[in-house]
Formats: sequence, structure tokens, C-alpha cells
Amino acid sequence: MINGTGAKIIGTGHALPEKVLTNADLEKIVDTTDSWIVERTGIRERHVAEAGTPVSEFATEAARQALEQAGVEAKEVDLIIVGTVTGDMKFPATACLVQAKLEAKNAVAFDLSAACSGFLYSLQVASALMRTNSYRRVLVIGAEVLTSMINWQDRDTCILFGDGAGAALLAPAEGQTGLIHSRLGSDGRQTDLLYNPGGGSLHPANLEPVAPDFPTIRMEGREVFRHAVTAMTKVLKQVLEEAEVSAEEINLLIPHQANLRIIEAVGKRFGIDKEKVYVNVDRFGNTSAASIPIALDEGRRSGRIKEGDLVAMVTFGAGLTWAAALHKF
Ligand code: COA
Repeated sequence: MINGTGAKIIGTGHALPEKVLTNADLEKIVDTTDSWIVERTGIRERHVAEAGTPVSEFATEAARQALEQAGVEAKEVDLIIVGTVTGDMKFPATACLVQAKLEAKNAVAFDLSAACSGFLYSLQVASALMRTNSYRRVLVIGAEVLTSMINWQDRDTCILFGDGAGAALLAPAEGQTGLIHSRLGSDGRQTDLLYNPGGGSLHPANLEPVAPDFPTIRMEGREVFRHAVTAMTKVLKQVLEEAEVSAEEINLLIPHQANLRIIEAVGKRFGIDKEKVYVNVDRFGNTSAASIPIALDEGRRSGRIKEGDLVAMVTFGAGLTWAAALHKF
């Protein structure tokens, strides 16, 4: 195994909205069925925020839990990165709002936009900044209220997404632990497969008329599916090879929770037992940047991830973007 990057996760947390939207609830809104959704996606229910709930609320709660678990005070935090595409506002950065709520007055704070890859992108950026800028306590948060950009009349997309946040607190690693290796990838030629055109400088929100469904998610589902499996497989293979780690050595694989069929296809390509592949997409749907840190926290709190375990994480999202990381606890 190669030398690690010097950053280790020492605390995790996650937060979800209380309200649960089941497939049966969706049957009343759009022309769909529970059996179709379960068969095609594995999703049974998802948590959805009340309209107008800021994503910083979930991000802050997840961060508080991570700090508490690690016994670290907010004032010790040097850096906060929030991976999100559904920030409270266009500006300022949601990370600054989280900083204020936590009273983490000594932190530098910024957001990172990489859609569903937001958490793993932020993790790599954080570990690089820890090396170059000597940051010692860093909060990496993936947080989304994706339902704020959903067209509830579009059955192709509205069944897929849920809201929530997950956080990881990083500290300098000791010995052969922590973030061992990670790789990121992007392909801007494929932006048309998954995007939200509304409210940016291309279609400014201050110009009328804006069609009612304009600031919502557009997706070519089948194409996204195909690219997701290919990119996740490729980047995970690269990370394993470069780190000189075999798939058998992985104690737990946490894939981005977009679709059970994508998750199973990736696990299968590496010959990883189903029991070693983390799944919570049935309960939360696709929470974008939040999906991996939510799973990490669930895994650590339930004892599924133990000290000494090697955890592989792999993701894919709009951009297109993708990433994989290996972390030894
Ligand atoms: N309920 C019932 N029928 C639906 C439906 C729904 N919610 N959504 C689509 N359908 C219909 C389609 O209209 C189509 O009907 P047709 O055959 O009469 O044209 C049929 O189901 C099959 O549609 P298709 O798009 O081929 O289904 P699919 O097996 O590809 O599943 C997705 C659709 C969206 C679930 C799947 O493509 C997927 O998960 N893609 C990846 C999306 C994703 O993960 N995005 C985020 C990436 S981070």
C-alpha cells in the first residue's frame, strides 16, 4: 500500500429532514408505482425538507455531530468545505453560513460544486490543503436539499432524489492510516446529460418570464446510468491499482447511492461480496453530495466500519464528474 495523504477522518455525523416521502406518496403525485420505482432504482422512501429549509441547517447539524464525536471544539476548526449544488443562497458560500452557525470563528470556509461527487472532491482538496497550509482540524461536508430543484410533475427525476447532509472531521493521520489515495475525474462535454439551467447567468432569475419548471433538474436517465457504471468502475480500478490494494482487501465499499442497480453493477465488476457493499438508497434515495458521508457515519455508528478497516468510496455526478478514495480507519 502506498503512503497515505496525511489526512484521517476522526469524526462523522449526519442529518436528515424529518419528513419521509414514500413511493406510495409519490403514486399520488405522478404516474408511477412503488413496484416500478423499487425494481428500477431500489428506492423505497426518501427524506424531504419542508420548502424553504436552508441546507446549512442540515450541514451544521451533521458537522456538530462530527465535532462532538471527536471531542473537538468548533473554534479549533481551521477549514470548512461544503460540497453542495443547493446552497442556501447563490452567495455567500453555504460554508460561511455553517461557519457562523457553528461559531467556528478561526476557520476558512468555502463551497465546492461537483454535484454528487462533491464530498469526495472536497475530501481530496481538504487533504491537499492540510499538507500545504498546515490545517489540522478540517470539516468536509456534503449537503443537499435537491428537492428544492425538482419538478414534481417529472416522473423521470422526482422519484430519485432526497435531502440530507453528512460531515467528516479530518485531522493529521498517524502511521499508515487515513486517506490512502484518491482520484478525481471530469468530462465537461457531457453537461447535457444532467443539469439545472435555471437561475444562473445563462438564464438569469431576474428576467421574466421564467417558466414555472425552469429552475429544475434535467436528466437523460439511461445515458447517465451507462456513464455512471463505466466511470465509477474505471476510477475505482485506478485508485486500487495505484495504491496497490486488491478488491479483496476492502472491508467496505461505499458507492454513491444513486440507484441500487448501479451500486450492484459496480460491486459485481470488482467481485466484491454484496455484504461488503453499503446500501441505504432504499431509505434515503439519491442525496447527491451527502450520500457518501451519510453512509460513512451510519457505518461508523453501527459498527459496520471499525478501527483498522479499509473503506473504498466511489462516486459519480453531473458535470460529468467522478471520484474514488481509499481510507483506512
Ligand atoms: N414510473 C413509471 N414509469 C416510468 C417512470 C416512473 N417514475 N419513469 C420513467 N418511466 C417509464 C419511461 O417513460 C419508459 O416508458 P416507455 O418504455 O413507454 O418509453 C420506461 O419507464 C423505461 O424508461 P427508462 O428511462 O428506459 O428506464 P430505466 O430502466 O433507464 O430507469 C432511471 C430510469 C432514471 C431509473 C435510470 O435510468 C437511472 O437510474 N439512471 C441514472 C439516474 C441517476 O442516477 N442520476 C443521478 C446521477 S448522480
